[in-house]
Amino acid sequence: MTDISLFDAIHSQRAIRHFSADPVSGEAITTILEAAIRAPSGGNRQRWSFLVIRDRETKRRLGQWYFETWNALASAMDLDSPGGQPYRPSMLTDGMEDIPVLILACQERPAAGFGPHPITSGASIYPAVQNIMLAARALGLGTVLTTLHTQHEQDVKALLGIPENVDTAALIPVGYPAKGRRFGGSKRNQVGEVTFHEMWGQKAAQ
Ligand SMILES: Cc1cc2nc3c(=O)[nH]c(=O)nc-3n(C[C@H](O)[C@H](O)[C@H](O)COP(=O)(O)O)c2cc1C
Repeated sequence: MTDISLFDAIHSQRAIRHFSADPVSGEAITTILEAAIRAPSGGNRQRWSFLVIRDRETKRRLGQWYFETWNALASAMDLDSPGGQPYRPSMLTDGMEDIPVLILACQERPAAGFGPHPITSGASIYPAVQNIMLAARALGLGTVLTTLHTQHEQDVKALLGIPENVDTAALIPVGYPAKGRRFGGSKRNQVGEVTFHEMWGQKAAQ
């Protein structure tokens, strides 16, 4: 464990896409997943599963599929624009097999007829994903929430033996940041710009 405060972790956690070759211990992954399972889920049903992937060939295959989707997106984008920054080449697009660990966060689909509204369909898995990223940050480990692999959902499921009624919500690379890659410095709009009081559009507390 570390002594980083919760707020230090929250404020400095950000997308890390370049990792060192330093190994990530099983103990660290257990600590991270112990944090994941503290997250809330609808009805406390905890329909989540976390696939920890270290096998090089598996990571290479996942990387190929990720690359295919990324390549199609990135080639139609101005990578120097602010919106293009996350799509610049990285170890996700070249060398995913060299990232020490990938965690695939999965969620079992509820029985037909009880499906949530689309906007809430991930609400019982992404809090766990955020806990993974914060716990990793507290241990000095970098992560990034990725979803491009879902364009190859059926391939990914076949490769990993994931049942039909389980969806993959996020593929989270985990590793110590590469030299020169740092936590912190993320750009966000100010709280005042995204907060209303009592009524939509009302900027100041009355
Ligand atoms: C729903 C969602 C999907 C994302 N998918 C990807 C992805 O496939 N690949 C990637 O590199 N980053 C992905 N990201 C990470 C975002 O690009 C990142 O959170 C954002 O650019 C802010 O980065 P920062 O925390 O370093 O400022 C995703 C984030 C979210 C919330």
